[in-house]
Amino acid sequence: MSTETTSGQVSGNGASGNQSLTVTDNRTGKTFELPITDGTVKAMDFRQMKAADDDFGLMTYDPAFTNTASCRSAVTFIDGDAGILEYRGYPIEQLAEKSTYVEVAYLLIHGELPTQPQLDKWVHDITVHTFVHENVKSFMQGFRHDAHPMGMLCGSVGALSTFYPDANDIKDPINRNIQTIRLLAKMPTLAAFAYRHGMGQPYVYPDNDLDYPGNFLNMMYKMTELKYQPDPRLARALDILFILHADHEQNCSTSAVRSVGSSQVDPYSAVTAGIAALYGPLHGGANEAVLRMLQRIGSKDKVREFIDGVKAGNEKLMGFGHRVYKNFDPRATIIKKAVDDVFEVTGVNPLLEIALELEKIALEDEYFVSRKLYPNVDFYSGLIYEALGLPTSMFPVMFAIPRTSGWVAQWLEMVQDPEQKIARPRQIYTGDRTRDYVGMGSR
Ligand code: CMC
Repeated sequence: MSTETTSGQVSGNGASGNQSLTVTDNRTGKTFELPITDGTVKAMDFRQMKAADDDFGLMTYDPAFTNTASCRSAVTFIDGDAGILEYRGYPIEQLAEKSTYVEVAYLLIHGELPTQPQLDKWVHDITVHTFVHENVKSFMQGFRHDAHPMGMLCGSVGALSTFYPDANDIKDPINRNIQTIRLLAKMPTLAAFAYRHGMGQPYVYPDNDLDYPGNFLNMMYKMTELKYQPDPRLARALDILFILHADHEQNCSTSAVRSVGSSQVDPYSAVTAGIAALYGPLHGGANEAVLRMLQRIGSKDKVREFIDGVKAGNEKLMGFGHRVYKNFDPRATIIKKAVDDVFEVTGVNPLLEIALELEKIALEDEYFVSRKLYPNVDFYSGLIYEALGLPTSMFPVMFAIPRTSGWVAQWLEMVQDPEQKIARPRQIYTGDRTRDYVGMGSR
């Protein structure tokens, strides 16, 4: 914390070396020295800057938190300029190549890769919690036939808190662990139920002989066969997609989970806030927009014309550009490879040809190069989902399943962080003040 000097000059008592920021408040002429820690200054250090004694003190204004760190986190590292994404320090490329989603979920949640016995127990625990209470199934059947699956997921995850009322004991680490397992285990079940509901097909119960992605495919696609055998190439491609989507530090939905969770509500309710945030087209819906764009372009020979329209400002090239990555989104490179594996099983989608042509032209074009616009994770993921026969409304659901591990890892970090309190931003009030009530006849 910094302090003011008697002369109005302030010397930092916490700042060491040149790790400080000197600020002069021109309203008063007073100068303050604020410590810089980890490349940040504390917003609360500005509160001491007052225009008068009864002044509340200076606040910072940052709609959408574009330059405000809301937490310390050891979960995910992103360097957008260099195109780096790491979970707990492990590069996403290595995890996508060598790990499984369930192991990555362990890593995100526990901070370290599991030993074999730890992984065995983790897989076992998740596998035996894949079933949901029959009443969950019943109320999901009550949704309208055309209910959006993301809305169904949101409602049913929220409702899980009523099936596990003990979940609000968030101070107990054993309790937190069991709810963590339940969330990871039941999310694919609820997602698949929502899909089957939309298809008018009976819900399929989990098959605990199968691994996490294989069981999800089973619950999505099993029909009359006695035992569903997932294609290992599809299961692996799905697992890679799950790994790539598992966490992405303080994005909109994760911030929602942390913010709602900061009220000390149970984790089902906090994760429901994350699902609601992901539902929005600016977050979980861009892959759908990519698919619609490719369908609209229609053929490879129309790509040049489409790009000219983008450059003229008519529309955006969906699946390109990113707020954080000003270089290749490392996830896009990995997904492109997974697309090939999926198409080997499902047959090539003609939209791929258009996508490849778009990418080729855009990566050579001055407009996109100078603005550092590269393909992002959504450019190719929609093609995979479509190849799996999924309606576009399922795309954000496919994102929510793996992001659950990231949400829970961040929630666990938050509830154990002594620096965190209930999230409560300030405002700049712009309305009227102290008006006398006007009777109906005088308005
Ligand atoms: N197509 C054409 N021009 C673009 C695009 C694009 N996809 N993205 C940005 N630009 C232009 C933009 O018009 C601006 O040009 P100018 O400087 O001439 O005004 C410049 O590039 C900088 O763009 P910006 O809007 O300031 O960048 P941003 O960081 O605010 O936006 C973005 C990032 C992802 C919202 C944006 O790139 C976009 O809308 N992309 C398309 C939608 C999309 O693919 N979204 C998925 C994001 S990845 C999902 C996730 O990780 O959650």
